[in-house]
Amino acid sequence: MAVEWAGLTPEVLVQLDRGSSETLGSQLQNGLREAVRAGRLVKDERLPSSRKLAADLGVSRGLVQATYDQLEAEGYLRAVAGSATRVAFSAPKAAVSRTAPAAVPTPDIDFVPGRPDLNSFPARDWLWACGEATRTISARELGYGDGRGAVKLRAVVASYLQRVRGASAGPDDVVISTGFTQGTALTLAALRHSGVTMVAVEDPGHLEMPLLVRRAGLTPVFVPVDEQGLDIDRLARTSATAVIVTPAHQTPTGVVLSSDRRRALLQWAQRVGATVIEDDYDSEFRYDKQPVGSLQGLAADHVVLVGSVSKSLAPAIRLGWVLAPRQLAVRLAEEKQRSDRGSPTLDQLALARLIESGRFDRHLRRMRTTYAARRAALVDSIAEHAPSLELTGLAAGFHALAWLADGTDETAIINEAARRSIGLQGLGRYRSAPTRGPAGIVFGFGDLNENAIRRGIATVADLLN
Ligand SMILES: Cc1ncc(COP(=O)(O)O)c(C=O)c1O
Repeated sequence: MAVEWAGLTPEVLVQLDRGSSETLGSQLQNGLREAVRAGRLVKDERLPSSRKLAADLGVSRGLVQATYDQLEAEGYLRAVAGSATRVAFSAPKAAVSRTAPAAVPTPDIDFVPGRPDLNSFPARDWLWACGEATRTISARELGYGDGRGAVKLRAVVASYLQRVRGASAGPDDVVISTGFTQGTALTLAALRHSGVTMVAVEDPGHLEMPLLVRRAGLTPVFVPVDEQGLDIDRLARTSATAVIVTPAHQTPTGVVLSSDRRRALLQWAQRVGATVIEDDYDSEFRYDKQPVGSLQGLAADHVVLVGSVSKSLAPAIRLGWVLAPRQLAVRLAEEKQRSDRGSPTLDQLALARLIESGRFDRHLRRMRTTYAARRAALVDSIAEHAPSLELTGLAAGFHALAWLADGTDETAIINEAARRSIGLQGLGRYRSAPTRGPAGIVFGFGDLNENAIRRGIATVADLLN
C-alpha cells in the first residue's frame, strides 16, 4: 500500500557516485528503477518535485526532469497534470514459499486466557495523561535517563504498591521495565550474577517461564501446583534457590496461594537464602474476598515483586515494574541500562500522571464490575449447559479452569470446538509433560462480553459434558 507522506516533499534514497564513469543521469535513472523493482517505492507513491530532488542531490533540475520523463516513458512513473509525479506500479511480491504455514482462522468466540477487555482501554484518560506528560517534561528529562526509570514514575509506583498491595518500597527499590516479561528476564539475569543456577517454576504454569529461565542461562525446575497453589514441600526438596510464583491468581489453574503455603514459602526463602519472584498477575481483580496483600510486603529482603499494566490497561502500553531488595535493584538497573537504556520516558510520565490523578483507580473499579459480570455469565452458562463441569479459580482475574472427566481427550475437544469457531485452550499446554495429570479447559473471559460467553458455552457444552 502506498503511504501518502504528509509534508512538503518526501525524500528518496538515491546515491550518486561522482567518481564513477557512469553519467549522473544514468545513475539517477538506474537508482529509481531499482527502487521500484525492489519494492522500496510502490504504486502511487509520490516522488519529490524535480526542483527538490535536484537540490537534494546537487544536480540540475533539468537532469531530474529528463530522468522523470525517461522513466515515465518506460512505464515506471506517471506524471499527473498539476500534481506530483507518482510511481506507476508495484513490483510483484516474491512468490509465497510453499512451506509457509496456512493461516489459522480466528475463532468467532475465543476464550483465550490473559487478554483483558481491549475495547475498554481508557483512551481518553491515556490521551490526557500523554498530553500532560508532553506539556510538562523538561529538556533534561528528554535526554537519556536513569536505567531504573523516571524518578516520578518510580515514586508513584512505590506509593501505589504500598497503598493497594501492602508492599514495602521506596522509589530506589523500583526499576521500571517494559512489562512482566522483561522485568523477570532482568531479575533472572541479576540473580545469575549472584550465583543462582536453578529456578523453580510452577507446573502447570505460564508457558514463558521455563523459556525465560533458560534464556537467562539458568535451569528451570518444575514444581507441582495443587488446590492450594505451589507445593512448598516439593519445592524444598529441589536445589532451586529462586522460584517464580503467581500467588494472587495462578496461571493457569486460577488458585490463590493459601495462607499456609504463603507462610511456608517465605520460611523456605529465609531458610535457604532464596529469592521469590512474585508475579503479581491479576492482583487488581479480586471478587469474592478482600485482596490478598503481596508477599513482598511480608519479606522485602527475599521477594522481588514484578508487575505490569498489561492486564490493568493493555499489553500495548509495555510498561511494568520490579520491586527488588536494594542490592538486587542496583544490579537490575544495570541490566536494564545495558539492554535498552531505559523505557520510554514520555510514556512513563504519562503512566505516573494517570495513576496519580486517580484515573487509573477509577478505570480499575469499572473493570472489576465488567469482569465480575462476565465471570457471572460464565458460571451461569456452565451451570445451565454443562452442569457436571467443575469450575475453579474464580476468586480473581479473568480466567477460570474447568476440570474434565478422567480420560477425556482434551485435544479432541479443542479441535472440535475450533471447527465450530470457538477458541479453547487445554490445561495440557501449560504442563511440563502435557499428557500427565487431569485434563481441563482454561476459559479466559476478559475480552468477551456476556452474550459471547453464553453463546460460546452453549456451542461447546455437548463436548464438555
Ligand atoms: C502469568 C502472567 N504474568 C504476567 C503476564 C504479563 O506479561 P507482560 O507484562 O510482559 O505483558 C502475563 C501475560 O500474559 C501472564 O500470563
